[in-house]
Amino acid sequence: MLIEKYIDETKQGAVHKGGGCTRNTKKLFLESYGCQMNFSDSEIVVSILNDEGFNTTDNVKEADLILLNTCSIREKAEQTVRTRLSHFKELKRTNPNLTVGVLGCMAERLKAQFLEEEQLVDLVVGPDSYRDLPHLLKEIENGKDAINVILSKEETYADINPVRLGGNGVSAFVTITRGCDNMCTFCVVPFTRGRERSRDPFSILKECKDLWNSGYKEIILLGQNVDSYLWYGGGAKKDFSKASEMQKVTAIRFAQLLGMVAEEIPGMRIRFATSNPQDMSLEVFSKMIQYPNICRYVHLPVQSGSDKILRSMNRQHTREEYLSLIRKARNMVPDLAFSQDMIVGFCGETEADHRDTLSLMKEVGYDYGYMFAYSERSGTPAHKKMTDDVPEEVKKRRLREVIDLQGELSAQRMKSYVGRVHEVLIDGESKKDKDQWKGRISQNAVVVFDKEYDTKLGDFVQVFVERSTRGTLVGKIIEIKS
Ligand code: SAH
Ligand code: F3S
Repeated sequence: MLIEKYIDETKQGAVHKGGGCTRNTKKLFLESYGCQMNFSDSEIVVSILNDEGFNTTDNVKEADLILLNTCSIREKAEQTVRTRLSHFKELKRTNPNLTVGVLGCMAERLKAQFLEEEQLVDLVVGPDSYRDLPHLLKEIENGKDAINVILSKEETYADINPVRLGGNGVSAFVTITRGCDNMCTFCVVPFTRGRERSRDPFSILKECKDLWNSGYKEIILLGQNVDSYLWYGGGAKKDFSKASEMQKVTAIRFAQLLGMVAEEIPGMRIRFATSNPQDMSLEVFSKMIQYPNICRYVHLPVQSGSDKILRSMNRQHTREEYLSLIRKARNMVPDLAFSQDMIVGFCGETEADHRDTLSLMKEVGYDYGYMFAYSERSGTPAHKKMTDDVPEEVKKRRLREVIDLQGELSAQRMKSYVGRVHEVLIDGESKKDKDQWKGRISQNAVVVFDKEYDTKLGDFVQVFVERSTRGTLVGKIIEIKS
């Protein structure tokens, strides 16, 4: 299963399936909310807790430990988690030995306040403190509340072998950076996930090779800001200026890392997320031309098409710089697809700013988009210095307009893939028809097609795309590659 970029925050999080080893006796129920990074982190958490005698279960009633890996990005995401927590009250009453814990961004943002507000929570652990889980669980056994929300400049969990929870055995996340230094004024991530730091490239390469050897065919290199990847021997990106001359000369950046992985494992498809316009170098696109296993798809959030709003968001690039990056990239790489994140109704956004957003979307012609109404987050620069002055109904209407426009753009983009042959990695069964496979083309569009020629999950096939719907392609296998 390739998890979508962000889980719909009005829905329950993804429950991780049951599994583990026979010697373990305790049961962990783990649910993840928010972005792909949380899913990847949950795989680290399960790895750590496996060694502590826990196997995962998808039946909450039999759990000894319930963990929610939470998201703080918008108010709605936090409300969903609080509602979910309230469902565990009854379980806790009937099973006094049950431990309930909150991980991730909400834990980091609310800290000890969580233990007071949500009486049933015993454990609060921030994104950089998962190694402390065994110790914290012992504290609880001794009748203490357990909390660790210390952010680190070093932690990358590089040596921890994640337990793959995605389930299809075809695609896997590989985390390459943690934290974010960009300080977009609306965003809580720099506060909940701390300073940007990069993971040792050799441990990344090893993880990718291990995945290949276990049958995986696609990896998604993950970070809040992958293009900002910088390995110079460890430590925060901000401290690079203090690195030795030798470290500076031998430092590895994202394009190099991408090239290394692509070169070492030519059969593996490589995707990456998320990119930030100001940190993206054209060298990344050169690597796409050089290595056909790097997918021709970039998730490149822009947030707004208005220069005024981009400035007040502290996005560090203009509309024209963004468009120019896309033009240059498209000139270099044929058939390159882009997707966006967009925020409507940010502080001071006028109708003219909103129209700039719509016109930018048309100019780029995105394949997909993830669109949100601005939600003020306490402690962020926007909360401290600006006024959340766009009325809710205006935000709603603008959101509807960008979503509708994206629907049209997606439909057009899907049409552009029709009448051609695409390489597709089979990553599951079609939800609607058990006799059909689903998979993705390099540009990330989903294709469904009949299960012909003895094909199986994880096969690469050449598919002729016959038609498209709004968001999906429909085709026919014409050749099997492996
Ligand atoms: N770089 C990150 C971005 C995380 S936040 C990544 O890896 O994807 C994901 C998206 O949520 C942002 O791109 C932005 O569009 C949206 N977002 C962030 N803060 C928000 C807020 N306060 N209100 C509404 N949307 C927000
Ligand atoms: Fe947030 Fe901007 Fe970083 S959206 S995650 S501060 S790039």
